[in-house]
Amino acid sequence: MRILVTGGAGFIGSNFVHRTLARRPETRITVLDKMTYAANPDNLAGLGGFDVELVEGDICDTALVDRLVRETDLVVHFAAESHNDKSLRDPMSFVRSNVEGTVALLDAAVAHDVRLHHISTDEVFGDLALDDPAKFTPETPYAPSSPYSASKAASDHFVRAYVRSKGLRATISNCSNNYGPRQHPEKFIPRQIINLLHGQAPRVYGTGENVRDWIHVDDHNDAVWAVIERGEIGATYLIGADGERSNLQVVGDLNEIFGRGRGDFVHVTDRPGHDRRYAIDAASIRSLGWEPRHADFAAGLRATVDWYREHPRWWERAREAAEEIYRASEREL
Ligand code: NAD
Ligand code: TYD
Repeated sequence: MRILVTGGAGFIGSNFVHRTLARRPETRITVLDKMTYAANPDNLAGLGGFDVELVEGDICDTALVDRLVRETDLVVHFAAESHNDKSLRDPMSFVRSNVEGTVALLDAAVAHDVRLHHISTDEVFGDLALDDPAKFTPETPYAPSSPYSASKAASDHFVRAYVRSKGLRATISNCSNNYGPRQHPEKFIPRQIINLLHGQAPRVYGTGENVRDWIHVDDHNDAVWAVIERGEIGATYLIGADGERSNLQVVGDLNEIFGRGRGDFVHVTDRPGHDRRYAIDAASIRSLGWEPRHADFAAGLRATVDWYREHPRWWERAREAAEEIYRASEREL
């Protein structure tokens, strides 16, 4: 099988490539990635002996996309601008990559009748109150809060419209917050791990009561394979591992791993429009026979800390650039 993996040099996409080749070594993979600041060429290292090729290019480049889609059996679409804070500073780059780029892929998939799986996020549903017993389901109305989640919501709508009106063979999955190796240091968990590796306190936005529903990246990618193999065309699957935790709980756990007091952190400027809580009802993905293997969040977090401790060269430069951006706007409260 030939697969085109967009965004395969980023966090989740590169973990998808590694896991796919480890479990399905005969797969032929082409990665299409613009190699933005969020990508890392080292993410695809160590794959000698496999049939994997990196094409550096933009999913908005319709001629390139048309050629690559024509040559493949399946598109797995991870490529996106993915950082909420960046989307507040530079929304247009999110419109281009997440909306225009997705539509370019859909046009090519229709033209060549190629199956496509679209990777999306639970953030399209907006947020839940902290004390609301409800969770997101595939029927929850869309109510995105940030330019990032608005652009992902738009891309989901385009996929559904193409399935209905143009005969596109596509599925969608909306996953909760991922953690694991190779996540960019601008994101919450890697940022705090790297702070702690430098002997610095974690930095928590606002009160820190915000809740995220954490899932290990390998569990997400196994669920993506379940949808590819057993999902129904046109259907949406919500992926989550019952991993709800407040940001305060996560920094407490990280502080403990580093032998510090759970409450040893700094409150910093809150994110405008900061979503309070995400929570996934995973019945749709579990109906395909999938279940998470990394049920023990503390163990997954320890393994992730070990990965960052062992790979300082992977994150050093990206971390410096990310912190320079944070320094320009973030104040200690
Ligand atoms: P990431 O930022 O680490 O990786 C995104 C990759 O896409 C990068 O390699 C980047 O270079 C590439 N890219 C960006 N714009 C491109 C373009 N125009 N053309 C080609 N390549 C381009 O992001 P991630 O965390 O790995 O997220 C991957 C996907 O999963 C995204 O669609 C995101 O919305 C979704 N998602 C992420 C999470 C999460 O917790 N990180 C949760 C649910 C869904
Ligand atoms: P993030 O990793 O940016 O993911 P998302 O916004 O997609 O959920 O942030 C996760 C949570 O952590 C979110 O509530 C914002 C918060 N946060 C901090 O408290 N401190 C930080 O330094 C960062 C980057 C995020």
